[in-house]
Amino acid sequence: MTSTGKHALRWLAVPSFLLAVGGCLFFSSCATVERTVSAPPAVAGATFVGNAACADCHTNYTRTFVASAHGRFHSDSPRLAGQTGCESCHGPGSRHVQTGGQGRDKFIVNPRQSPETCFACHVQTHAEFRLPHHHQVLEGRLHCGQCHDAHGFDIHKPKGGLALSRLGETCTNCHREQSRTHVFGHEALREGCVACHTPHGSFTQKLLHQRDANLCLKCHAQVQTTAGEIFFGNTAHGAFLSRATCWAAGCHTAVHGSNIDPKLRY
Ligand code: HEC
Ligand code: HEC
Ligand code: HEC
Ligand code: HEC
Ligand code: HEC
Ligand code: HEC
Ligand code: HEC
Repeated sequence: MTSTGKHALRWLAVPSFLLAVGGCLFFSSCATVERTVSAPPAVAGATFVGNAACADCHTNYTRTFVASAHGRFHSDSPRLAGQTGCESCHGPGSRHVQTGGQGRDKFIVNPRQSPETCFACHVQTHAEFRLPHHHQVLEGRLHCGQCHDAHGFDIHKPKGGLALSRLGETCTNCHREQSRTHVFGHEALREGCVACHTPHGSFTQKLLHQRDANLCLKCHAQVQTTAGEIFFGNTAHGAFLSRATCWAAGCHTAVHGSNIDPKLRY
């Protein structure tokens, strides 16, 4: 068994544990939990039929799914019905199959309408979207599929993307201003937007990992050789650092890149 396989199986044991522990935690707190943490999405009167039942009509999805992040731990075992595979996200499919694909809103779940189906397993992600600053997924303005291709080979790119630059491409579709090429680009962006931003949510404004100099210092730390002064490049920064963030007005406001200033000040 591959190490990913082992990891996934260990992981699958987690929901029942969470159900036991989570039950006490959630019901005694004021958090609103829409439904139990491990249950696959429900469809009234329907039962699980397995991936093979989807293949007739959705060949394009069943074919690529095998190599996807969720396909890698898929099991046909009846014991795990609905815990892996198509129906773990789309709910039990028997009525949808019987009716030949009818009843879009009634007989089959589409996570584009509600991310609840993902949160059954990704409890941590759910918590992130509830932080004070977040992409508005819970509010219905965005959905997981706009950043994650659930069926495809690379789940960290939007559906139909080219995966040229994995993490940056995810954001480019909606944030062209920050993603475009500049005469003086900031090399930090080569590590993706997530070098500085959290994608789901954070405690800090603008989804930043930190809202102070530490955000920049993780890459720009420099060995200091002059006692009593702090240098970045050849410029003494001691007085600046105590005054404001590195990207405050008058400093490096063009943190995503500049067409006029190599020091990214404007
Ligand atoms: C008999 C053919 C058939 C089978 C079998 C079938 N589907 Fe469908 N499915 C359809 C058709 C037709 C549509 C509607 C497509 C459209 O309107 O664009 C559809 C739509 C969907 C949608 C989109 C629903 C929406 O609200 O947008 C999902 C999700 C889906 N199917 C999942 C599945 C899964 C999972 C299985 C296996 C359990 C499955 N289908 C089996 C024919 C089928
Ligand atoms: C990890 C969760 C997940 C799994 C597993 C999954 N899907 Fe989906 N599926 C989604 C999401 C999210 C969407 C809606 C967003 C999108 O289109 O990317 C979707 C949309 C669909 C649609 C509708 C597409 C459309 O354009 O309206 C079909 C059909 C579908 N899935 C079939 C399948 C089949 C068949 C399988 C199994 C081989 C499967 N899915 C497994 C998450 C999943
Ligand atoms: C039945 C449980 C389950 C459901 C439902 C589910 N996931 Fe997952 N997801 C997993 C597991 C298990 C992994 C693999 C973790 C690993 O490989 O370490 C995973 C992996 C992922 C990853 C990749 C994580 C990484 O570290 O690269 C993403 C992104 C993801 N899921 C998004 C989604 C989205 C979006 C949905 C809903 C459309 C969804 N998942 C629904 C269980 C689930
Ligand atoms: C705005 C784009 C965006 C949206 C919307 C989004 N994600 Fe993500 N997600 C990302 C990026 C980018 C990463 C990679 C983070 C990294 O590598 O630091 C990620 C990582 C993940 C991971 C891996 C664990 C982690 O946190 O690093 C999971 C699981 C996941 N997302 C699930 C989801 C689910 C479920 C939804 C919908 C409820 C969702 N995501 C919506 C961009 C997004
Ligand atoms: C599907 C479109 C979409 C995608 C993809 C997307 N975003 Fe956003 N983003 C938005 C919307 C909508 C807002 C809210 C804008 C507003 O309220 O004016 C936003 C806001 C932001 C903000 C500002 C938050 C604030 O508090 O002002 C940051 C930073 C951000 N996104 C970063 C990212 C990063 C990084 C990625 C890639 C991981 C990404 N976005 C992907 C749509 C998207
Ligand atoms: C080197 C760190 C860094 C990287 C990498 C980075 N950003 Fe930012 N971003 C920031 C900072 C700092 C701010 C806050 C600027 C402010 O408050 O004036 C910000 C603000 C934003 C905003 C909010 C803009 C506004 O005016 O409110 C968006 C959207 C955004 N970034 C998107 C992106 C995208 C998309 C990428 C990748 C292409 C990216 N960022 C990469 C540091 C970074
Ligand atoms: C992921 C790593 C990373 C992060 C985080 C980062 N940078 Fe950079 N930055 C670089 C690299 C690499 C260069 C190009 C090499 C160099 O000049 O050190 C660069 C160059 C610069 C330059 C141009 C320097 C010159 O003399 O040409 C400025 C100004 C700058 N960064 C400011 C910032 C600010 C402000 C932040 C925090 C908001 C930040 N950087 C965060 C990696 C990073």
